[in-house]
Amino acid sequence: MARRVTLTLGFAGGTREVAVVIPDAEPTPWQWGEKFSVVGVPTPRADGPLKATGRAPYTYDVQLPGMLHGAILRSPYPHARVRGVDLSAARKLDGVRAALDRSGATVRFAGQEVAAVAATSPEIARDALALIRVDYAPMPFVAAMDEAMRPDAALVFERGSNVAAPIVNAVGNVAAGLETAAATHEAVYTTPVQTHVSLETHGAVASWRGDALTVWCSTQGIFGVRDDLAVHFSLPPENVRVITAYLGGGFGSKFGAGHEVIFAAELARMAGAPVKLMLPRADEHLATGNRPSSSQRVRIGAARDGALTAIELVQHGSGGIGGGSGSSGPYLTLYRCANLRTEERNVYLNAGPSSAMRAPGWPQGCFALELAIDELARKLGIDRLELRRRNNPSPVRALEFEIGARAFRWNDRSRAPQSRGPLKRGIGVASAAWHGIGASGPQAQCVALRDGRVQVRIGTQDIGTGTRTIIAMVAAEELGLPLDRVTAEIGDTRYLFSLPSGGSLTAPSTTPAVRQAAAHLKRKLMRLAAPLLGADSDDLIIRGGVISARAAPNRSLTFAELCRRIPGDSLAADGEHVPNYAGYSLTQAGCQFAGVEVDCETGIVRVTDFVAVHDAGVIVDPLTARSQVNGGIIMGVGFALFEERRIDPQLGVMVNPTMDDYKLPGILDTPEIQVFFVEVANGITNTGVLGLGEAVHVAATAAIGCAVADAIGAPVRDLPLTPDRVLAALGQA
Ligand code: MOS
Repeated sequence: MARRVTLTLGFAGGTREVAVVIPDAEPTPWQWGEKFSVVGVPTPRADGPLKATGRAPYTYDVQLPGMLHGAILRSPYPHARVRGVDLSAARKLDGVRAALDRSGATVRFAGQEVAAVAATSPEIARDALALIRVDYAPMPFVAAMDEAMRPDAALVFERGSNVAAPIVNAVGNVAAGLETAAATHEAVYTTPVQTHVSLETHGAVASWRGDALTVWCSTQGIFGVRDDLAVHFSLPPENVRVITAYLGGGFGSKFGAGHEVIFAAELARMAGAPVKLMLPRADEHLATGNRPSSSQRVRIGAARDGALTAIELVQHGSGGIGGGSGSSGPYLTLYRCANLRTEERNVYLNAGPSSAMRAPGWPQGCFALELAIDELARKLGIDRLELRRRNNPSPVRALEFEIGARAFRWNDRSRAPQSRGPLKRGIGVASAAWHGIGASGPQAQCVALRDGRVQVRIGTQDIGTGTRTIIAMVAAEELGLPLDRVTAEIGDTRYLFSLPSGGSLTAPSTTPAVRQAAAHLKRKLMRLAAPLLGADSDDLIIRGGVISARAAPNRSLTFAELCRRIPGDSLAADGEHVPNYAGYSLTQAGCQFAGVEVDCETGIVRVTDFVAVHDAGVIVDPLTARSQVNGGIIMGVGFALFEERRIDPQLGVMVNPTMDDYKLPGILDTPEIQVFFVEVANGITNTGVLGLGEAVHVAATAAIGCAVADAIGAPVRDLPLTPDRVLAALGQA
């Protein structure tokens, strides 16, 4: 059974009626102008106090009786044949309980896993690694992209070239578009390899009982880890339980069971005791993923009125032995242009593998495109924001530009480039876009307990974004309860399935399942209440934890009183995320404005202030949403100014795998950040919530780059914008 409803969807800039067919089990999607009581209220994280006081149990904190400690031996060579691994001396060391050799025939990057041990203390495990004898036959390697692209380069894999076939997207005719342009610009922009540097490193604690495996794991996807382990050990999935109560970040690097998780489980089985294997910081930089580098040749042109006539990207990028370096997303999305062509190639190097990293490809693409747009604007003599407005395809972003420009005072003369002694100030703006629309798959269970509390149980994980909090808020909203009655129980494969927390999937994918479960529970509870209130269950409403009949509002029952009438110890209902409806829009816009101050004597850049304007459908918790925006911008400061994996060209080894040498932004590098949300009633699900984690990171680096070029009056084209690069750019100006 289904019903046809007409939804009012859209945003402050315009709404429209959309007809959709809703399955019978589904609540009607939240619409434009919906009146909420819990959703939309800035709400501190449910688990904030636990985290702030150090009581939230992360994987790192798990201690089991008789638990051993694992450690991994890694190749010091970027490319070598492994002729043999001798574990005998390591095995004889007092306290060593298990050792394994997992090298395969060839290592292709310095840091690749070769062997692992488990011992009674972390110190003994480390000593044991030093006793493992590995017979390496070093081979020629390539550690830099230009070198790897030469015809005579050493080959990373046994195939003809280190350069993969191009991925091409094209519409219209770029040559013709450039021909008709009043102004054109062409330049090469580069971005370095960035590592994730999650505060909690990768790792797991593995414990066997017979052929049942329990793993506490620092992962973005508990079910992915479960399935990988089940396949690896040929077990039915229900024999593997994965628990991630708390997670210290992942940013795309923690999907599936990595080597460290498999090793922990193998060593635990060999030793007959639980094994904890958490990676040291250096290993984290070497082997658990990175954002690939990019070299982007950009050609763009525009007519005299600023209308873009051509955009072309020719890109090479390297994720070491991994791929996925493409950066075309922003080129294909941010601006209207009839003649558009992108060509992307992966280049392989003997370096640690890439993995997804917060909006894969987009921050680097946005940096090059937006810097190029600024250089074109100068040639055209058109204000940089105005040029973006004229080519902006999104009505939501048009409003966001307006809100942002006003808050940032873009047109205020005091914001124009100016000097104070050696300090020069500048401003930049960049467009964001994303598509955090979620996916089907998640199922949730909502349980009313006899003591009047409600638990939402769902196998999702909180990567640090506030998932626990917003899930409870959505259930409380649907059930008409104050938030303090509802808790979210998550992070365990014993609960119903949910998707990994990546691709900005979590909020848009889980909340519709949670809301449906809450609606189903409400229906059951109303049936329980109906005879008590002498009314038909369809006539009952629940608001603020009180149930009453529409017709006779004087007779009422509190939620706690009702729960005491539950016949067993609880009343449960399930819900699922049904396939998305057509809704209002499948994309998100956004824009960010940055102010910087550049010291022209030292070359040091300070980001002074940011204005960020974003949309993510219904914003469940403006407080956690704002904290995501802050995080996206702070990460952008790191990518813009500091972060770069550096590899010694002679040795092929990363030279800065520490948090001293690989610099991240700290509190003193963090600008003043103003955040605005444009609410969009999206209607693609029953909540219309979209993901925000990646959207807010796309434009930050670009906005900073644009502001630096504005401040110094010279182009900047290579990240990170370290003092030497800034001084060199000033020297050329
Ligand atoms: Mo993300 S890069 O999909 O965690």
